[in-house]
Amino acid sequence: MTASLPTPQTSDDDWWRSAVVYQVYVRSFADANGDGVGDLPGIRDRLPYLRDLGVDALWLTPFYTSPMIDGGYDVADYRDVDPAFGTLADFDAMIADAHALGLRIIVDIVPNHTSSAHAWFQAALATAPGSAERARYLFADGRGADGELPPNDWESIFGGPAWTRLPDGQWYLHLFDPAQPDLNWRHPEVRAEFEEILRFWLDRGVDGFRIDVAHGMIKAEGLPDVGFNSMTTGRRQSELLGKGRLPYFDQDEIHDIYRAWRPILDSYPGGRMAVAEAWAETPQRLARYIGPDELHQAFSFDFLDATWSADSFRKVIDTALAEATIVGAPTTWVLSNHDKQRHVTRYGDGEVGLRRARAASLLMLALPGCAYLYQGEELGLPEVLDLPDELRQDPSFLRTGESRDGCRVPIPWSGDLAPYGFGPHGSELSWLPAPATWRALSVAAQTGVPGSTLELYRSALRIRRGHPALAADADGVTWLAAGPGVLAFRRGAGDAELTCVVNLSDAPVRIDGYGQPVVASTDLTESDGGHVLPVDAAAWFDRR
Ligand code: BGC
Repeated sequence: MTASLPTPQTSDDDWWRSAVVYQVYVRSFADANGDGVGDLPGIRDRLPYLRDLGVDALWLTPFYTSPMIDGGYDVADYRDVDPAFGTLADFDAMIADAHALGLRIIVDIVPNHTSSAHAWFQAALATAPGSAERARYLFADGRGADGELPPNDWESIFGGPAWTRLPDGQWYLHLFDPAQPDLNWRHPEVRAEFEEILRFWLDRGVDGFRIDVAHGMIKAEGLPDVGFNSMTTGRRQSELLGKGRLPYFDQDEIHDIYRAWRPILDSYPGGRMAVAEAWAETPQRLARYIGPDELHQAFSFDFLDATWSADSFRKVIDTALAEATIVGAPTTWVLSNHDKQRHVTRYGDGEVGLRRARAASLLMLALPGCAYLYQGEELGLPEVLDLPDELRQDPSFLRTGESRDGCRVPIPWSGDLAPYGFGPHGSELSWLPAPATWRALSVAAQTGVPGSTLELYRSALRIRRGHPALAADADGVTWLAAGPGVLAFRRGAGDAELTCVVNLSDAPVRIDGYGQPVVASTDLTESDGGHVLPVDAAAWFDRR
């Protein structure tokens, strides 16, 4: 299988422009020591699987020292590995093996907030209001006669007030859990510290960073009220994410930070990159994060949020491609991640959801730009909807009843008994239980099985890497006339042409004149020299 994988067609420094990046949610990927939690040695063991799958890079979610209140997005030490995940030596061994296999490594960086267990926050707690230690975070006095009301009406993304009061009367800001205090990015020490953290991991050989809450570090001067929140009007402020302006997100000054980071990335050889997890009011404002003097990419969450309709996909694809052309950076597509319901379930769950998810994946992988896959989507995993409440660990569950645990269930690798090879042979532990139906979805159960979702991904990734029409520098997309509810577009031209057709209508469609199908999300039938593409299906055609 490995021998036939084509080499990527991008130059070394531009590898990210058309890469397929596989997101590893570290604690749920592979558990080498049998404690029920995924770890770095587990990832290292499974690198050959990822190389054979045909991805170019891995993005690892935070594996740093952390009390794990938010699954590691609460970092206590940015320069060390949490013992649950291994050691720095394990990281070094993992990245060396990855590079030897031709896989690049992107790590998550969490600059908006630290853990409350971080030495800086502990020092802030140990000192009086007004101290230099508190100046690194956002402490403020409350409102009301005795300061008993929070300094403003800001709401945590995880629900409830974004402020917590200390016994000495002061409040501190946390846009997420109270265990994730927000840093003051107008403080020079904070900026200097994160520049050093970037260098620390770049020196260890990482190929890039995924920047967590990349739109959040700068808050509007004076910390003005939003004007409503779920406590006062029943309307949550987070409804405005990606749709409106909030005084704590997407402030213009944030771009100064990335203009300072870019020269650091550029000073290292081999195309070190950064991708923003940023939410902005419009695609135009999102595009401001990317470009030659800021970041390389920003996730296009509009694609993930598109509903199952040709119009909805067409609109977000056109907008994202137009913005990418203006800023000269590739679009960054994503269908699932560790924060969102898995796309099999979003598109209807069960058989319908899986059919649509497979078709959407072929759509995404045919588009120009970079695609991010979330671990397990290549197996067609659905969201686990029936986890017992007492096992759920997402901090937002307690505050809002919404939980992201269902997309974080450990990956099934093999065998007949849960957790299906997640741990070493015979280990029965896993921090979240896998459903019995996952026995049939494991890597071993799907490997070599024609028509399995895993083999579909392997085929699509192999073609994507080797086909000249999908290569990095191939032009954008040319939309082709297709019936209502059908998307059809061409990549490339002349001898090197590939056409992707997705049927989102409610009737089968006949496809003529685009050549032979090279990969399809479901079986096509032939009729009178053409092909019939069933409902909720996609296929790539090649005329060569
Ligand atoms: C991450 C989440 C995390 C939050 C706070 C998000 O953008 O993807 O998993 O809970 O940031 O760090």
